[in-house]
Amino acid sequence: MEGIDDQDATMKRKNASPISRSGRFSEGPSADVAAFTESVSFDWRLWRQDLLGSMAHAAMLQRIGILSKKELRAIVKGLDQLGAEIAAGQFQWDAALEDVHMNLEAKLTRRVPAAAKLHTGRSRNDQVALDMRLWVLDEIHALLKAIRHLQKALVELGEANAEVIIPGYTHLQRAQPVALAHHLLAYVEMFQRDISRLVDCHRRTNVCPLGSGALAGSTLPLDREFVARQLGFVDQRGRPQITQNSLDAVSDRDFLVEFCAAAALLAVHLSRLAEDLVLWAGTEFNFIRLGDAFTTGSSLMPQKRNPDVAELARGKSARVIGNLVALLTLLKGLPMTYNRDLQEDKERLFDTADTIRATLRVVAAMLRDSRVNKAACAAAASDPQLLATDLADYLVRKGMPFRQAHHAVGTVVALAEKLGKPLNQLSLPEFQSVEKRFDRDVHSLFDLPRALARREMTGAPGPREVRRQLARWRKRLS
Ligand code: ARG
Repeated sequence: MEGIDDQDATMKRKNASPISRSGRFSEGPSADVAAFTESVSFDWRLWRQDLLGSMAHAAMLQRIGILSKKELRAIVKGLDQLGAEIAAGQFQWDAALEDVHMNLEAKLTRRVPAAAKLHTGRSRNDQVALDMRLWVLDEIHALLKAIRHLQKALVELGEANAEVIIPGYTHLQRAQPVALAHHLLAYVEMFQRDISRLVDCHRRTNVCPLGSGALAGSTLPLDREFVARQLGFVDQRGRPQITQNSLDAVSDRDFLVEFCAAAALLAVHLSRLAEDLVLWAGTEFNFIRLGDAFTTGSSLMPQKRNPDVAELARGKSARVIGNLVALLTLLKGLPMTYNRDLQEDKERLFDTADTIRATLRVVAAMLRDSRVNKAACAAAASDPQLLATDLADYLVRKGMPFRQAHHAVGTVVALAEKLGKPLNQLSLPEFQSVEKRFDRDVHSLFDLPRALARREMTGAPGPREVRRQLARWRKRLS
């Protein structure tokens, strides 16, 4: 039974007792329980938001007569000082004080006696809801910037290779020719939708929960609108945005789910782009050469240039998707209102934000350091089969119903295969042996630039349209 004794030893009582236990409790939690329940090891990252929230709350308490001007000044000065110490890495976080909120309040109260009034009309429940909202709002701003950088890198790579044509693929089979820039711009479109989802999430996150207390507001005449305005929770017309139900406000984490969902889809888009780069950098495609800084060698095979960075960009999407599922699972069975389970939201959020931002950064840098292999692209795009659909359209222009034209061209492709010739090397009599409406101009269909120039409607990969789209994005992103 030695093992059990050992366990008991780790369960020995600790003296430190956080503020939340003062009065009611005769002893502190065991070291094991304290380690199990603490969150300061990760939620210290909310310090800036926590200090801002305390400043706004203190200013409001002074307005309603709970703090004197002098007390407010002392508190604000103390909070400023804490911020400076944390920023300088001089603050000692104490796990015995559980979380960021109690660490900051305890330290402040030790220095500024008036800070004992700071928690008036406030609970950690509305405090943490506030901090998380402020943190997400900041993160969305940073993320939008990072996405725009990536979009710019895609547009620039497209502009630098505006004349390069590659096969477009379905089922990873060569389908029809497209401009390489058209392929890159497809991702720019996806990332723009990611931006709009984040902007939408910002709107719903931008609502102040402070004043909701533990769950049922406060008996004191708190000025919630004032606090909201102080913290920038305002709409476009400057009107304060505050939550309308205290129970909802302390237990709602919809904004985190929305953020993590938008991030998960963004991660999926990054993963797809990364997969294209892995393919393109592979020997079989060879469309692109990734910079040395973004490839690694093999410990065994000297010839290798492995696209590890792109592979990790693809792989990291797994954890971002996992974080979303973890959050949804965390929330689904919670009774109203606040439950400590909610503390588990933080690491999922931080991990999502860190992962997605790092991925955006390296993928943008990788694109900037990539070179398009024009010869390999030209060789792949010269496959005449890419223009089989153009042959069908040719017959349609001569009055043939498309289904029949499709059938006729299928027969032509089979004939070329049987004769062991590329499609464009069939003679006119051979074309006409399948369908009389093929005429002398049939071979001109295989001129690739002309084939692309036939695709100039909005959203199509023709050179004029692609240049127009590049210019539109260039303007939009500048
Ligand atoms: N660390 C806690 C969290 O992240 C803060 C709120 C604590 N509230 C409570 N009633 N224990 O959720």
